[in-house]
Amino acid sequence: MAKVLITGGAGFIGSHITEAYLKKQYEVVVVDDLSSGRLENLSDVMSNKLFRFYKTDIRNADEMEKIFADEKPDIVSHHAAQKSVPHSIDAPIEDADKNVMGLLNVLALVGKYKVKNVLYVSSGGALSKPIIGDEKSRESDYPQIESPYAVTKFAGENYVKIYSSLYGYKYSILRYANIYGPRQIADGECGVIPIFVGNVVANKPSILMTYADMPRGCTRDYVFVGDVVEANMLLTEKPVNCPVNVGTGIEVSMMDIYEAILTVFESTQPIKVTGPRLGDIKRSVLDASRLKNLVGWSPSVDLVNGLRILKDSMAKK
Ligand SMILES: NC(=O)c1ccc[n+]([C@@H]2O[C@H](COP(=O)([O-])OP(=O)(O)OC[C@H]3O[C@@H](n4cnc5c(N)ncnc54)[C@H](O)[C@@H]3O)[C@@H](O)[C@H]2O)c1
Repeated sequence: MAKVLITGGAGFIGSHITEAYLKKQYEVVVVDDLSSGRLENLSDVMSNKLFRFYKTDIRNADEMEKIFADEKPDIVSHHAAQKSVPHSIDAPIEDADKNVMGLLNVLALVGKYKVKNVLYVSSGGALSKPIIGDEKSRESDYPQIESPYAVTKFAGENYVKIYSSLYGYKYSILRYANIYGPRQIADGECGVIPIFVGNVVANKPSILMTYADMPRGCTRDYVFVGDVVEANMLLTEKPVNCPVNVGTGIEVSMMDIYEAILTVFESTQPIKVTGPRLGDIKRSVLDASRLKNLVGWSPSVDLVNGLRILKDSMAKK
């Protein structure tokens, strides 16, 4: 079976993808500096003979070269990134260093060691155009670039495409919507679901940051992590050489999310509405019909069921 190298494989999404490849008998090499990922996310796979872990920063050219030379992966799944929009505004140089220079380091090795297939993770939300009425964001829209994070993800997409014509690998650009599920952590301002769930479980009220004309909060498209894993598996078998939205097409406000969490976690904690957060796009929902048409993907877990799975996983800890 083929060998896949996953950058950021100790993170929330990367660790679920690691498990899925191993279940399909791929050899899996995870490279992660553990800056936001955790080894415990990989505890179920550590003893698997098909699995290897390297604690390395993707920007470390010497260490990365050694890993590629030793492992010679067939496939690279690039999940490692600085992922926070607010942090990219506070620290744009660090954001560009990880998300652009880190990626270029990986792509140079992809070329040198003749990797055949690259899966690059971008952001559908950060690259959405402003939507009006019932519109949904499509891959063919010119992206709305409103944060350094969006700049680096869009630059990354273009580098992946250009290097593909230079080196001849196949690729897929996965524009994720807002992903949620077990193992997601409320680090900084990232991830409204783990933040709200953390508050509800701790019997604390939450804060909803929004614009005056969006009283129920900004809207997003929330996808359960298991469905994201399935998109990765389909695109591994059939690379599409273009960007694809990974979303449900359902526009959900932050207040909708909060109310669904209160129902699933059986709570009545209040929520306080305050002013908006710098860089937040007001509305975002993705049209994922391209992904459906190209590889047959569609989401299978709705929000309430996804929250139930999350609740069950927390109870098992
Ligand atoms: N979670 C979402 O809703 C969402 C939405 C759109 C896009 N994404 C993208 O998906 C990917 C994974 O995000 P996540 O939510 O699982 O976050 P995460 O923080 O859990 O995962 C990122 C992983 O990358 C690792 N990492 C970061 N910088 C690194 C470096 N320089 N060298 C090596 N490893 C490094 C971290 O330790 C972590 O394990 C990111 O590229 C992110 O931008 C996530």
